[in-house]
Amino acid sequence: MFPLPPSPLTQIYDPIFEKFDIKFFVKRDDLLHPEISGNKWRKLKYNLIEARNQGINQVLTFGGAFSNHIYATAAAGKVFGFQTVGIIRGDELDKESSPTLRFAKNCGMELIFVSRELYRDKEIVAKKYKNTHFIIPEGGTNSLAIRGVGEIDNEITEQLGYIPNFICTSVGTGGTMAGLCSSSKSKILGFCALKNGNYLEAEILTLANNPKINYEIFWDYHFGGYAKTKSELIDFINDFEKKHLSIKIEQVYTGKMFFGINDLIQKGYFKKGSTVVALHTGGLQGRSF
Ligand SMILES: Cc1ncc(COP(=O)(O)O)c(C=O)c1O
Repeated sequence: MFPLPPSPLTQIYDPIFEKFDIKFFVKRDDLLHPEISGNKWRKLKYNLIEARNQGINQVLTFGGAFSNHIYATAAAGKVFGFQTVGIIRGDELDKESSPTLRFAKNCGMELIFVSRELYRDKEIVAKKYKNTHFIIPEGGTNSLAIRGVGEIDNEITEQLGYIPNFICTSVGTGGTMAGLCSSSKSKILGFCALKNGNYLEAEILTLANNPKINYEIFWDYHFGGYAKTKSELIDFINDFEKKHLSIKIEQVYTGKMFFGINDLIQKGYFKKGSTVVALHTGGLQGRSF
C-alpha cells in the first residue's frame, strides 16, 4: 500500500570534508515525491495506512498558512484518494493568502480558518470531527509518524553498506528526530529551527522510547527563531547550492541544519574518518528568497 521507492543517498564533496577527513552523504527525501516530499511523507505513511485499515476516508489535520505538512497532506489526499480537511491558524486568512493554501485548495482540501485563540485549543476544534475523520496532529508527529521515520535509518544502512557514525536532521516539532532516535544505531544530531526550543528534548526522548539512544541537539542555529532568517544564512544557502548544483535547500529548516553541520565540521566536532549523513527533509515549497 502506498509504495514509494527509497530516496537516493548522494555523496557530496567539498574541500572542507577532505580537510577534516569526513565522508558526507545527503539522504534525498526531498526527492521521494514531487509534492509529498521529505519527512512529511515518512510521517504520513502509516497514518494513511491506519486510516485506510479503519475504513476512514477523511483525514483532518492542522497548520499555518505556509505549512509543509498542510501542503503534503493535501497532496497525499489527492494522490491516494482521501478527502482532506485542514484547520488553518488565522481567521483573517483565505485560500488566496499563500501559495501553500492555494495549492491545498486545488488538491481538494477543505480549509477551515480559525482564530489564533481557538487554534491553541485545536483538540476542541477537532472534537466534532473525531467520529468521522482520521485526525493527524500539527506537523504530523505521532507514534505512527515515528514508525515511518524509523524506516529511514535501515534504508541508509542498506544503501551505504554500513552504519554511518552520524545522521543529522532539522528539528521543528521533534518527530523526525524522535523517529531516527527510536531505531538508529548512529548518533543522531538535531538542529533546532526554533528559538527556545529546549522543551522539545523531553518530548523527543519520550516519543523515541529507546534506552540506547545516542544523540545531541544543537539549539543555536535558529537565526532568530522559527521562519526567521539572516543574510548570513541566505549567503550560506546560495553558496551551498552553487557548490552542490543538484541540491536545493530552504531557509526555514534544511538551510539551518546544513549551516550548523558546516559550523560543527569547522570546529572539529566530527572525528577523522567519520561518515556523516544529512537528512534532506524537503520543504522546498516554502523556499522564499
Ligand atoms: C521541511 C521540514 N524539515 C524539517 C522539519 C522538522 O521536522 P519535525 O517537525 O519532525 O521536527 C519540518 C517540519 O516541522 C519540515 O517541514
